[in-house]
Amino acid sequence: MATSLDLLPTSLPLVARLIAENDLTAHDRRNIRSLLIAAYPQYEHLWTQQDFWGGPAEYRLLLLERTGRLAAHLGFARRLIKVGEEAVLIAGIGAVAVLPDLQGQQVGRQLLRDLRQCLCRDLPVDFGFLQCRDAVVGFYAKAGFSRIGQQVRSFDPDKRLWQIDDAAAMVLPAKAPIDTWPAHGLIDLMGMPW
Ligand SMILES: CC(C)(COP(=O)(O)OP(=O)(O)OC[C@H]1O[C@@H](n2cnc3c(N)ncnc32)[C@H](O)[C@@H]1OP(=O)(O)O)[C@@H](O)C(=O)NCCC(=O)NCCS
Repeated sequence: MATSLDLLPTSLPLVARLIAENDLTAHDRRNIRSLLIAAYPQYEHLWTQQDFWGGPAEYRLLLLERTGRLAAHLGFARRLIKVGEEAVLIAGIGAVAVLPDLQGQQVGRQLLRDLRQCLCRDLPVDFGFLQCRDAVVGFYAKAGFSRIGQQVRSFDPDKRLWQIDDAAAMVLPAKAPIDTWPAHGLIDLMGMPW
């Protein structure tokens, strides 16, 4: 499924496309790998082999320039996780990237705004979820994510073992208000992180 989402206002004329993982073409995957190499050059060795990391993506959200150049990307997958004793439906988000020459122009903000619309309307979940470096916590906070202090358990795809991951955990309210996130207990991703 490839869907053009309603365009939200931005200074750059970008078109949002939501694509199911199975509908990605080889051309799409090449473009995504090139964008990820440009945005995360320190992981070039990884992105020359693959176009996502961790738990498999279910959908990709792309922002495209009118010329077709890929400006920004993220992937996500819906999953029922456990927080303490409660089951919570989330979309786990990963590989968030904006082309270096377009960074600092609200493109990342548009990507996350379009994601939120998608998670509220098209593919409803209670919350979006991701883990990130401390250096980008402020970016996600400005887009409506809240940092959660609870520990996160997941299956590390590289070391092939269950672990407690200390990276900052960020939650985006989608269908559910943020104050309904279970405030106590371990966040068990029940699989690989994104
Ligand atoms: C992180 C990234 C996605 C941000 O995208 P961007 O298009 O440059 O960000 P935007 O211009 O949309 O910024 C939106 C707001 O967040 C702020 N912001 C951006 N990066 C920030 C950061 N690292 N820390 C704090 N705030 C940040 C901006 O100042 C802006 O604030 P404003 O609306 O008050 O002006 C982009 O820089 C990128 O792809 N980086 C390399 C890959 C990466 O680190 N991805 C995230 C890994 S989890």
